[in-house]
Amino acid sequence: MKTRVAVLYGGRTGEHEVSLRSAESVIAAMDPHKYEVHRILITKEGRWEPRAISPDPCANREIDVVFPVLHGTFGEDGTVQGLLELADLPYVGAGVLASAVSMDKEVMKRLVIERGLPVVEYIMVRRGEFQREDVCGKFPFPVFVKPANLGSSVGVSKAKTCEELLAALEQAAQFDRKIIVERGIQGREFECSVLGNENPVAAVPCEIIPSREFYDYEDKYILNQAQTIVPAHLTPDQTAEIQRLAVECYKSVDCEGMARVDFLLETSSGKFYINEINTIPGFTSISMYPKMWEASGLPYAQLIDRLIELAIERHRAKQATQFSR
Ligand SMILES: Nc1ncnc2c1ncn2[C@@H]1O[C@H](COP(=O)(O)OP(=O)(O)O)[C@@H](O)[C@H]1O
Ligand SMILES: [Mg+2]
Repeated sequence: MKTRVAVLYGGRTGEHEVSLRSAESVIAAMDPHKYEVHRILITKEGRWEPRAISPDPCANREIDVVFPVLHGTFGEDGTVQGLLELADLPYVGAGVLASAVSMDKEVMKRLVIERGLPVVEYIMVRRGEFQREDVCGKFPFPVFVKPANLGSSVGVSKAKTCEELLAALEQAAQFDRKIIVERGIQGREFECSVLGNENPVAAVPCEIIPSREFYDYEDKYILNQAQTIVPAHLTPDQTAEIQRLAVECYKSVDCEGMARVDFLLETSSGKFYINEINTIPGFTSISMYPKMWEASGLPYAQLIDRLIELAIERHRAKQATQFSR
């Protein structure tokens, strides 16, 4: 009996096209002897084609497990995960809470700080509720400004003066009510893949060398000139430190399935900072999440197998949990 996997992709966000590419790679890597793939495309308008998953657990009998390959809002943020919980379907990746808090950079930072892990100093301001003096004197320039809930560097700016900072806040405010302003880190950028439910493990990390001033949207998806080095050139101690922090970060948001944890290494202090955690990282053939696993001895097709196993394991564990007396 083949496992019937619904691959959910597309989505109502700016990351629609990236999702299409990720989904094609995932589907291409799925062994046709093991899996029967059911594609469900969510159009940019939000229509589900050929049909939607129902919240009614009795209505989705032709599906065994769902693989959401949706990046960003309405897919990576707990919304789709909530629907899949109602539908009582196993699904790949983080649950509702971990998805939602990982998408919110501010809540994520608070949880990570509470666990004693290093994040860059930041302030959160609400759209329309801050004064120039609240934001301009806080950190030495440059600073980074980001909408709290988004991805792919959309709405993210580097500001070198107070005027640039105010303009950056206005731009970020188009994307979210909550905006993060944080100290700019001069240094290098790394990523580390994590996989697992109860006992998550980290892959060998990679380094990202942006071709622009920082790793912005163009650099990620248009220019294709950013360099990636996997495994990253780090000392054994630094590698162990990144892996430890990646797993700790994963646990601090109660993540399951998979996530990619991103880091900044400050040149002057030699210190690693956790930048963010992505619960549905890019999955294209050139994406770093699967590449780091490949470099760690877990080829792409086996990674897919493992993710589907983890989804089913988690669903079983949940079914064994009582929800009423
Ligand atoms: N505090 C910072 N110091 C230096 N560079 C940063 C900082 N924050 C973000 N960046 C740069 O901006 C990019 C996008 O920011 P990030 O927080 O990862 O947002 P997104 O969720 O959109 O990917 C990072 O990959 C990095 O290049
Ligand atoms: Mg990022």
